[in-house]
Amino acid sequence: NLDLSCTLVIFGATGDLTHRKLLPAIYNLQYQKLLPESFIIMAIGRKNKTSETYREEAYKAIKSFSRFPMEKEIWDDMSHKIYYKSMDFLENEKYVELESSLKSIDDKHNTKGNRIYYMAVAPENFEPIIDKLHSYVIKREGKTWHRVVIEKPFGKDLESAQYLNSKIVEVFQEKNTYRIDHYLGKEMLQNIMVLRFANMFFEPLWNSKYIDSIQISSSEKVGVEDRGGYYEKAGAMRDMVQSHMLQLVSLIGMEPPNDLDTESIRNEKVKVLKALKKITQENIEENTVRGQYGASQSDKESFLGYREENRVSAISDTETYVALKVFIENFRWAGVPFYIRTGKRMPEKSTEIIIQFKSIENILYFKEKALQPNLLVIRIQPKEGVFFQFNAKEPGTQQKIIPVQMDFCQNCRMGINSPEAYERLIYDVMRGDSTLFARWDEVEYSWRFVDNILEAWRNQKPDFPNYGAGTWGPKEADILLNKDKRSWINI
Ligand code: BG6
Repeated sequence: NLDLSCTLVIFGATGDLTHRKLLPAIYNLQYQKLLPESFIIMAIGRKNKTSETYREEAYKAIKSFSRFPMEKEIWDDMSHKIYYKSMDFLENEKYVELESSLKSIDDKHNTKGNRIYYMAVAPENFEPIIDKLHSYVIKREGKTWHRVVIEKPFGKDLESAQYLNSKIVEVFQEKNTYRIDHYLGKEMLQNIMVLRFANMFFEPLWNSKYIDSIQISSSEKVGVEDRGGYYEKAGAMRDMVQSHMLQLVSLIGMEPPNDLDTESIRNEKVKVLKALKKITQENIEENTVRGQYGASQSDKESFLGYREENRVSAISDTETYVALKVFIENFRWAGVPFYIRTGKRMPEKSTEIIIQFKSIENILYFKEKALQPNLLVIRIQPKEGVFFQFNAKEPGTQQKIIPVQMDFCQNCRMGINSPEAYERLIYDVMRGDSTLFARWDEVEYSWRFVDNILEAWRNQKPDFPNYGAGTWGPKEADILLNKDKRSWINI
């Protein structure tokens, strides 16, 4: 029976993230009757507009992106609780005005003074906004709470992340700081722990004795779209690996926590990140591949190369693809390679984890020909589910063994309407549950790992572009696995 009354203050309310994800997520929560009467949105953007025009804009965004139909009654209830304020994020006086608007909202709607400040702005604005909120807006009174949600990327390297964090802790306690990684809000990511720790048949085999290797792939069909300005400075390593991909590694690799408390889970996840084998100048060649897509044309489609995209330099060395071979140096995972790959402009949108088990000794069957290894595939998106491949006898008079599959399709059974990541995450912030958010040390250790690679890469000029848009990445990524007598598996 938590009291969820609060004002959600969104910085960057006219941006893409707010339109595509935040507003629809809030509408979806409202649709499911999960929001309290006193839930108010204070939308803040640089553009000049009235609350009325902003509501119209919000209506259109929700209509296009919500997973539920637009219903008049629900929208009417929500829309009059949306306010818009235009302000320059760097102007002090605007924050004084903001505080007085928020105060009158608190009084009018009885929000109890509780607030969530959501940073849906470009990363360079995080720190100045937090600083000014500290000086002009946040006043701790009675039992009110103030929480901050920080979008990724949390810094651009370890040093900038440490600086940003030091600024945040001046204002917000760790328990009120929500570093969002929207992959953690995805249904199947939450399912990883359940699969592992609520079943007898996976966990006993979940180690180097039985597992040959693990592949974690996240491919996207889209290119950088209109985000060239941001992506030029980020690249796939900062954009995907430092956050989403390493979160997947830690969920797959972690030890069972003592209980399901937020900190117990995070303690186990961070141990994995601490145990990642360093990749530096000495071993960069055998453990990493980076790529950038070039233009391509076929009968069906033609794509620009990355260097031709909007707001991208014509000589850009930013990577749009990364493949890594990673080891977790602990007792459970000694010697098991985790192959990670992520890229833009690939043939399909898909995120999957493939656990490849060791081959069985060839004593009874097929002495001359190896059996197919058992595979466990955790499908994160767009299909959600679990797929298991094992060997069985082919029906007939011959002693022939073939791989067969069991496929649990979660979205076939539960429908495609499983909650959107942002819905779950915003609701968690309101409830004060930070389990599905990155703790500071998780961010810190991911940067430690990633920084070494970026530094080694800086010393060598890449030969870009090195893969055609719409293909599975550079051939070096295949060689990375072929050298280990393995190959990428596309199920
Ligand atoms: C974001 C990245 O964090 O994740 C984007 O900044 C990427 O570049 C996106 O496209 C992928 O998310 P999803 O949920 O579509 O897999």
